[in-house]
Amino acid sequence: MTQDELKALVAQAAADYVKEVVPAGAVLGVGTGSTANLFIDAVAAFKERFSGAVSSSEASTRRLQQHGFQVLDLNEVDEIPVYVDGADEIDASGAMIKGGGGALTREKIVASVAKRFVCIADGSKLVDVMGAFPLPVEVIPMARAAVARQLAAFGGQPRLRMTKEGGIFKTDNGNVILDVAGLKISNPKSMEEAINHMPGVVTVGLFALRGADVLLLGTPEGVKRSDY
Ligand code: A5P
Repeated sequence: MTQDELKALVAQAAADYVKEVVPAGAVLGVGTGSTANLFIDAVAAFKERFSGAVSSSEASTRRLQQHGFQVLDLNEVDEIPVYVDGADEIDASGAMIKGGGGALTREKIVASVAKRFVCIADGSKLVDVMGAFPLPVEVIPMARAAVARQLAAFGGQPRLRMTKEGGIFKTDNGNVILDVAGLKISNPKSMEEAINHMPGVVTVGLFALRGADVLLLGTPEGVKRSDY
């Protein structure tokens, strides 16, 4: 099976899961990325079940609206029973690297409100030690160089994210992203805390303090579920 087929498999499994556990009339939390896109397409088949969705990016908002979902402002929402999103890497404890698509800040905000974080990923994303995927860090533009020096002191090699056209990549919040290569993240919680404390850092793409509660992993043998 190709990686895209595995993503489609877990996206459908997540839609089935949501149908089973999310009470009718509740608000759905929706992530960002290619796997989350497939989830949006799958869950759209029974969108009437939800009073609306809270989205983690402008891109997901557009896709949800194309399917006829009502996209709600998080400020108008008290409860999100389930948030479904992909990951760039996930370890055996449910800690994740996210932000490959640049939506890490809104993802972390929506995830923090959700009761349950359901991570959907193809099998290649499950790793023993995270860090092969460069860790995204969203930074206020004026702090870019100062934060990069501190990240280098951790043993990483930060690089400013650029667009395909060669411009500086800007997040939905108007900030920049440093992608930090060369890290071996053996203690994700303490690294998340340490990077969070650097002045100018908006969000680090480590989701360890609030990791996944459920993982739906797409493998050639089918979808494997882990609960953390
Ligand atoms: C978006 O900012 C990310 O956190 C995505 O969830 C992550 O990059 C996974 O993306 P794919 O589903 O496209 O692999």
